[in-house]
Amino acid sequence: MDATTEELKKRFAQALEKSFGNEYRDLDPMIVVASNPLFGDYQANLAMSLSKKLKQPPKAIAQSLVANLAISDFCEPVSIAGPGFINIKLQPAYLEKQLQKVYEDTRLGIEPAKSPQRVIVDFSSPNIAKEMHVGHLRSTIIGDCLARILEFRGHKVLRINHVGDWGTQFGMLIAYLKEAYPEALTTQDALDLGDLVTLYRQAKQRFDSDITFQEIARESVVKLQSGDVEARKAWELLCIQSRREFEIIYNLLDVKLEERGESFYNPLLSEVVKDLEATGLLVEDAGAKCVFLEGFSNKEGKPLPLIVQKSDGGYNYATTDLAALRYRIEVDRADRIIYVTDAGQSSHFAQVFQVAKRAGWLTDRIDIVHVPFGLVQGEDGKKLKTRSGDTVRLKDLLDEAIARFSEYLEVDLKAKEREESQEFKETVAKVVGISAVKYADLSQNRLSNYIFSYDKMLAPLGNTAPYILYAYARIRSIGRQGNISFDDLLRDESIKLTEEMELSLAKHLLQFSEALQEVEKDLFPNRICQYLFELSQKFNKFFEHCPVLKSAEPVRTSRLLLCDLTSRTLKLGLSLLGIDVLERM
Ligand code: ARG
Repeated sequence: MDATTEELKKRFAQALEKSFGNEYRDLDPMIVVASNPLFGDYQANLAMSLSKKLKQPPKAIAQSLVANLAISDFCEPVSIAGPGFINIKLQPAYLEKQLQKVYEDTRLGIEPAKSPQRVIVDFSSPNIAKEMHVGHLRSTIIGDCLARILEFRGHKVLRINHVGDWGTQFGMLIAYLKEAYPEALTTQDALDLGDLVTLYRQAKQRFDSDITFQEIARESVVKLQSGDVEARKAWELLCIQSRREFEIIYNLLDVKLEERGESFYNPLLSEVVKDLEATGLLVEDAGAKCVFLEGFSNKEGKPLPLIVQKSDGGYNYATTDLAALRYRIEVDRADRIIYVTDAGQSSHFAQVFQVAKRAGWLTDRIDIVHVPFGLVQGEDGKKLKTRSGDTVRLKDLLDEAIARFSEYLEVDLKAKEREESQEFKETVAKVVGISAVKYADLSQNRLSNYIFSYDKMLAPLGNTAPYILYAYARIRSIGRQGNISFDDLLRDESIKLTEEMELSLAKHLLQFSEALQEVEKDLFPNRICQYLFELSQKFNKFFEHCPVLKSAEPVRTSRLLLCDLTSRTLKLGLSLLGIDVLERM
């Protein structure tokens, strides 16, 4: 809630008490930011819902409230619209004061959380020796953004990379590695295994076509699990090589993660099963140990089991997640745990959470959420593929975005007859290319599928990264043109709001904190994108109608302050999305 809503709530409490008595004091006045600025800035909608209880028409209730509402110190005279909406408009002087406060605050009015939490964000989490695909890219971008927001609010965030580095597929890989790269296992150094995806494919081919190889692969799993030195070394080589490839992507995206893969929980798995047994939840079904779930049934309507130990004694994805969850609660002492994966894993998490709750490990103290997201599709609406029909490599995908913007930039510079250094062009293309990919992802409601389109995400107009980055660079160039260093802009000068466009920009600037708080709670980053997009639009309108450098004082300085605050808000907002700004572009 922003400071203004909070203040309005207080005043409404007084009005409610005066109008209807003490017991009405704490009623929610239902204050929302007005959808149409013509009617005002805020709207209080409680009259409608109170009507039944008070047995009075909403209009009469609204009139009574308005008569007792003492807000003339910061609002214009209140009006009642429709059946009983109370419309509130803020006074420019009040806006100026609020804005001034935000201006002087390096955190732009975003207060640090009053009680910081320990939060775990489990995101990215690709699988060793397999391709990191677009689903992992989405998880990486969304997870990083959520982590950044929580960190900025002062929470203690653990960014966990739950990589798939354990499981039966390693048997096949180890067996193949021994066969195809025997020298890899005898040298001290980590050998460059080249392309792991090809290695995986070759190993799989071998596995599918040769029964003796299958046997060796199975033995290799057992060896790995029992700590056999050679098997362990082969496994490590695979992990090192994969990590190297993941790192390239993380570096490009500027994403930090702490790797704690599935293998980390391996020593804890047997205990999970033992403890589940002790709670009486465990049932043996066709040799497998499982927990029958509540609210999940199979096609025949029978309760669905969550298997935690297979009949061959092996553990699975769910067992590991149960162990991880317990570790996060007991060792990390997390208050909030956030899992960012595709929506396809929703029931997996619901099942794991249920079992952990019923086992008593997961209590109401802990806020645990799965943050699901939709698919990334190609322009044909199908699964994203390259032109030749192969799966897209993330590195290529990011490079392509950079290359395409680079082409656009060349043309743009030529048209404007601007000469720029190679270094400048490279930096701009890289920042815009990466930002565009991130922004295209974050600006969607994460629950929906989205179509990956370079043309759309790189467009200089519309709800895109380039549009917002251009707005930022435009503001910075105003400063350069006026030979003004925004950093030491006369702090005691004040903002004066008179023009419609100034007021509209100012009001939007004051809503940043609310947008952030919503994301912190609901974990939908598109809310911030929408905010920044509208901020850029409002700024551009303001700049079109209100001359800045050419205005006389004190208007000139006041407008410069507005420019500066806008650019700082854009910069901070973008940084929370994981996007860098450019001073010039
Ligand atoms: N490695 C998994 C995958 O690629 C994602 C892991 C998500 N995190 C978790 N704790 N299960 O689908």
